[in-house]
Amino acid sequence: MLSATSLKLTAKRPSSFYQEVIDGLRAENKYLSSKYFYDEAGDKLFQQIMASPEYYPTRSEMEIFQHQSVKMASLFQEDSSSFDLIELGPGDATKSWFLLKELQKEKAPFTYYPIDISSNVISWLEDRLPVTVPGIRMQGLNGEYMEKMQQVSTFSTGRKIVLFMGANIGNMTPHQATFFCRQLHDRMQPGDLLLIGFDLKKHPRTILDAYNDRQGFTRAFNLNLLRRINRELGADFNVDQFEHYPVYDPGTGACRSYLISRIAQEVHVGEMTFAFREYEPLYMEISQKYALPEIQHMAAQSGFLPVHTFMDSKKWFADVLWQRQP
Ligand code: AVI
Repeated sequence: MLSATSLKLTAKRPSSFYQEVIDGLRAENKYLSSKYFYDEAGDKLFQQIMASPEYYPTRSEMEIFQHQSVKMASLFQEDSSSFDLIELGPGDATKSWFLLKELQKEKAPFTYYPIDISSNVISWLEDRLPVTVPGIRMQGLNGEYMEKMQQVSTFSTGRKIVLFMGANIGNMTPHQATFFCRQLHDRMQPGDLLLIGFDLKKHPRTILDAYNDRQGFTRAFNLNLLRRINRELGADFNVDQFEHYPVYDPGTGACRSYLISRIAQEVHVGEMTFAFREYEPLYMEISQKYALPEIQHMAAQSGFLPVHTFMDSKKWFADVLWQRQP
């Protein structure tokens, strides 16, 4: 199984990993980028998080796709022209599989373009999907989202429907998320559709528990990035001297994970030395939660018109369908 944001660091890109780590450890408020969570061990831990009783977002979104793919497929085909279905960060496509099956059943004229930074994800999908969705027309694209979106436009000038699921938008601040949607807008044509998965504000305890599971998978997931930096960048983080500390602010909807340095300590990354104070936080990840009006506001800010909101039975998660405005 492969995670939605699975990222394999290849020989071509070690310098950007190194540079981002150095920039983050040098900053006044130290941080690391959560996009580097997903090495092989990180992918496995993320699978365990998703299967844990506390981590509800995956199950909530799965319920939406299981029960509402028929409605989604019909909205996608309101305009009867053929379309390109572009999925950003498909992972193993377990959720979109319900939609692909439905579209295929209805003989919808579409080509599926999964885009992922991990070549493993793409080759796995290219092997598996023709078996589980017989007759599917697809072309996997390995690379950055925006660059590959542009590339799709060179193959085809048809209608685009873009999927960005799994609450991956939550791993950006609201400001970054609006900017990201604006970038998508600029690569789409008027009338094209965008479906985004947002995790919704709910009881703060439910949210905090999802990032502090009893079995410790989320803790291990965060600490794994320190192990990865040790291994790939020649660092010497003492993983036992950092404590997983997630916080949720019900006002802003920001759930943030930190690693707290248990003691005053020095960490070396290659030639560089970084001093941590006792209890100094290292900011690891944001998982932003939204209220529906905030999502509407983001649509307007980035040039989209809300068309439909799909929610699970508990109203914990929303997949929103937006149309690109002129
Ligand atoms: C991938 N992303 C939406 C997950 C989230 O909920 O922010 C990553 C994650 N981090 C800790 N648990 C899950």
